[in-house]
Formats: sequence, structure tokens, C-alpha cells
Amino acid sequence: MCGIVGYIGSRSAADVLIQGLKHLEYRGYDSAGIALFIKNQIVIEKSEGRLGNIEKIFRDKRVPLYSSCGIGHTRWATHGKPTTKNAHPHKTGHVVLVHNGIIENYLEIKKELILKGHTPQSETDSELFGFLVLDEMELGASLVTAVRRSFSKLLGQCSVVVMSEREPEKIVGVRNGSPLVVVRDPEGGVVIASDAQPLLPFSREVIFLEHGDLVIATHEGMQVIELESGLEVERKPLSLEWSIEQMDKGGFPHYMLKEIYEQPGVITHTLNQILDRNQKNPFSLFPQPGVNLLNQAQELCLVACGTSWHAALLGKYWIERWSGIPVNVELASEFRYRDPVVRSGTLVIGVSQSGETADTLAVLREMRVRRVPTLGVSNVRGSSIAREADAVFFTSAGPEVGVAATKTFMAQILVMLVFAGYLGFKQKKKSNLEIAQLFNELVKIPHLLSQELEEGSEMLKQIRVTVQNLSHSKGFFFIGRGYSYPLALEGALKLKEIAYDYAEGYAAGELKHGPIAMIDQGMVVVVLAPRDSWRDKTVSNLEEVKARGAMIVGIGDSDDYDLKNLCDDWIPLPSENRSIDAGLLSFILAPVVQLFSYYRAVQKGTDVDKPRNLAKSVTVE
Ligand code: AGP
Repeated sequence: MCGIVGYIGSRSAADVLIQGLKHLEYRGYDSAGIALFIKNQIVIEKSEGRLGNIEKIFRDKRVPLYSSCGIGHTRWATHGKPTTKNAHPHKTGHVVLVHNGIIENYLEIKKELILKGHTPQSETDSELFGFLVLDEMELGASLVTAVRRSFSKLLGQCSVVVMSEREPEKIVGVRNGSPLVVVRDPEGGVVIASDAQPLLPFSREVIFLEHGDLVIATHEGMQVIELESGLEVERKPLSLEWSIEQMDKGGFPHYMLKEIYEQPGVITHTLNQILDRNQKNPFSLFPQPGVNLLNQAQELCLVACGTSWHAALLGKYWIERWSGIPVNVELASEFRYRDPVVRSGTLVIGVSQSGETADTLAVLREMRVRRVPTLGVSNVRGSSIAREADAVFFTSAGPEVGVAATKTFMAQILVMLVFAGYLGFKQKKKSNLEIAQLFNELVKIPHLLSQELEEGSEMLKQIRVTVQNLSHSKGFFFIGRGYSYPLALEGALKLKEIAYDYAEGYAAGELKHGPIAMIDQGMVVVVLAPRDSWRDKTVSNLEEVKARGAMIVGIGDSDDYDLKNLCDDWIPLPSENRSIDAGLLSFILAPVVQLFSYYRAVQKGTDVDKPRNLAKSVTVE
């Protein structure tokens, strides 16, 4: 979604803003712009397309635009096309603003403004806020008061950052839902952004503004007040562990590839962060409020979107198998609007790598109103879900820059398995010996993943060969049963996201209930059939599609020659996998489907890390 950076201090604001916006590119955007105070006037440069266009505008200026105060924005279009006119910052008289989120009552506001004689220049909801501030300032209000009064007229979740030529060298930001974070620049000054990543080069002591906070940044420092009361509040910084080095591609051609290769470490770090190894239950969790919530739960409801929903679905399979506790898995965008029945004793768990997904967050808020206990599983400390759920478990995947989730998915499924083991021990559905065996198998995974990803592995070689044979495919079905079904869904989603191929994920047994009508020679069926209790049934389904002429890509055990013989292309799982329980093969399958999509996207020349139309954190409905 949209990215915001604001800076006031002794450095070149243009440089800080452009570098900061670069850190936000991963969120997805279609236009960009910056506004700078230059001799008490605000100069705006904006353009549709990539941030490089703005950089070029600056390069082309003969005289460098020196400024020590400004705001910048990357826009992900919601209201109005991705054009230069609709790009932020918007200037209305002496007021300039950038905005992230949606003004839900923008039509009413627009009508009122037009009746008053104003003429909005863009199609955006954002620009309207500038007119509201302008009108208040014309009545004599200060910038801060004007922003506060104007904000009270808005409906919806959004954040704005505003400047005015009437009060030079001052930035006012409001957080109302959409995140806004602030750091003090050790060289003097303040940096504001819509997420923490642009702030890391300045400081890791980051202040996450609360919902309803207003920050005033000047050369002297910053002050935070409550939007409603106007009273000053103290906000303590949170020390982030993420380092700026983690934001680097580390020699990989794309962040996505780097992040796929980080997965073995993600498992180890996450286990170290959440497991207390000094207890009888090998899946014992370090004491924290979330453990009590899990202990009390008679039923779980996992709520998520996209890839996180796939992780949750796998969680259902594991948790029910190991603990016997019933688990529902819900798409947040559906759940929130359908008057769901939530039985007493249910723990609602929001799974979200970003911790900012609007629909998942809204479900947790709704549950809080209903006094249903909530738990978050997130990768981002200080995120909205992490702060608003009753308790949170953090995955330790580190910053994920590629828009397509990979290592955060791995971390999420790990947490799901840990919940299964923890609750399984507690519920005594399985013997302690079985739980201990599961744990012993789990700790082998990082090593197996490293072997799987080693250059020269048969798996890697075959993925590349297979992708070469795909050039004219018209569409893909990913099929699997049992634990491979959520991976089939994830494989299809990854392919759609980054390679823009038509792709569907299906439970293999469902194909003959309709989709098989689509199968013909131009279609590719990717079958996930590792040696587990579902393998034989999946292979039968495969025979059905083979009879209809589809090209078949098999992913299975290296010595599964029967399966291999049915397939046109064959991606073997590393033979070392035979040493782990079939129930854990999802961990090994994940990089296969991720890399399959990655190489397909590279073959097609798409923008792997910043695929079109997508945003890293979806902060609007
Ligand atoms: C994953 O590759 C996608 N970008 C998307 O489906 C994502 O998983 C979804 O938007 C949910 O995001 P979250 O985990 O941050 O809540």
C-alpha cells in the first residue's frame, strides 16, 4: 500500500526522502512524489511509475534542490488512476499533504467542498483533506489545530502527514489506523515513515505512534499529542532487532531468492525465540500471555488472508491431528461481514506476517468488542495486530522485502506446528513419545532445507529444466491432498503473483467435480505427491488428468519411480527427506513451489520483487 516518509533535520531532505521511499518500494506502488520546503515555499515533484522518475527529475535540475524539510510518498492507487495528477503530495493553497489509507466519507466531503466553491484537481480522496485544513487555517487556526479539526470530519482508517507554507519547517503527522512510526535522527531532526524500514539507517529506537496520535516534528525535535484531547503524551521507543544489512540483497539477484534461501535460519531463529527447551514438553513455549490463551482454548479459529491463510489451513490439519482441538480457518475478508458464530471457549488467532492487513485486524477488533480472546501471529514487532491482539507470538523471519511472502510463510507454518505439538502434549491425544519424536524430526528441518537449496541439488536442476519446458503453457493447476493441499494453493498463488500465469490450486480429489473440464493439452498440472498417506489417492487423480492430455509436472520422492513415470517433468525431493516424518514434508515442499514460481517469473522477465498491482501489506479492505 502507500508509503510515507517525512524528514526535518540537518541532512538533505531530498536524499533522505528518496532513500526512505526506496525502502518502501517493496510495499507496492504505482506513482511517487516528494515535497520540499525551499526558502519557505513548498516545491513538489511527482510522477507516475517508478521512483526512478523522481530521481531523474532531480538529476535533470541544473541547481540541486537543497532543503532540510520535506515529505514523500509512494502511491498504490485506490481512488483514481495511477497518474501523475493523482500522485501525492497534493498541494491545496499553502497546504501540502501525503496520505495512506481510505477516507470512507470522501463523497460527502467532496460535495460539501464543491458547494463551498473549491475545485479538487485530482480524483483522489486524499486531496480533499488539504481543503479541509486550508479552510480551518483561513479561519485562523494553527496547522496543528486545523489538522485536528479536519481529521474529526473523516471516516475510515488512514494516516496523513501535512505541511503548510504558513508554518515553514514543520511536519504534522496523524496516525489513525494505518501505521506511522518516528525516530529521532542522532544528527538532529526527526524522520517519520509508514513503516520502520526507512528509519533503520537512522536509529533502531523506533516510536510506533498509537492510533489517534498526532506528531509535530520541527528542527528542535518532536512532540506527540492526542488527536482528540490535544494533550501531550509520552510514547516510549521500541528497540528493533532488524538491521540495515538484512535489507540488502546480499548478492542475490532478487530479494525473493535471498529470502527463500534464508528459510533454514528462519526456522532455527523462530524456534529459539519461542521455545523454552528446559521443560518436559519439547514444544514448551516461553511464558507469555499467549500461552495462557492457548491453554484455555477449547476451540481455535484461525483468521488470515492470502499466503497467511494457507499457513493457517496447514495449521488446522496439524493442530487437529496432534491435539484433537477443533480448528476453523477463516478468510478475514469473509468472516468479518457474515455475522460469524463464535462459541464460548474459542480463541481467535489472526495470522499476518505484516500485522497490518486491514481485514485481519478488523476481525481481531470485532472479537475484542465481543470479548472473545485474540492472539496474533506476526513477523513485525510494533505492528497493529501485535499491539491490538490480547497476546502475540512473533515469527523471527527478519524483514521480508519481496512482495511475495516466502520466508514468513515458512515461519508461520512452523508456529502452527509448534502450536500443534504444544497442544498435543497438553491434550494427551498422542503419547509423550510421539510428541518427542515429532520434535526430533522438526529440528532436522533446517539442515534438510539447506541441503535442498544447495546449488547443484537435483531438485534445483529439475526445477530449472521444467520451467524451460513450460514456455507456451496456457494455465496451471497445482494439486495435492492432505498436507500438500495448502502447499498446492500456495504454489498457485505464488505463480499468479509473480509470474502472472493463470493458476489454480486444488485439492486433488476435487478436480473431477468440475475443473477437469478445463484440462487439455495446453494445461500444466503440477502434482504434489510426497510419500504420505495421501500419495496413492493423488496418483489416481493424476491418471485422470493424464488421460486428458495435460502436461504433468510431478513433485515427489526421488525414488518414487511409479509417479515419475507418469509425469512429463519430474522434480524430485532430496533423498535425505526420507529421514523425516511424512507429516513434515510441507516444510520441504514450500521452497519447491516458491522456486518453481521464481524461475518461471525470471523466465518471463517480470518484476519479481515488486509484482504489478500488489502491495506488501494490504492496509485497505
Ligand atoms: C503473499 O505472497 C501475498 N503477498 C499476500 O497473499 C499476503 O499473504 C496477504 O496479503 C496477507 O498478508 P499478511 O500476512 O501481511 O496479513
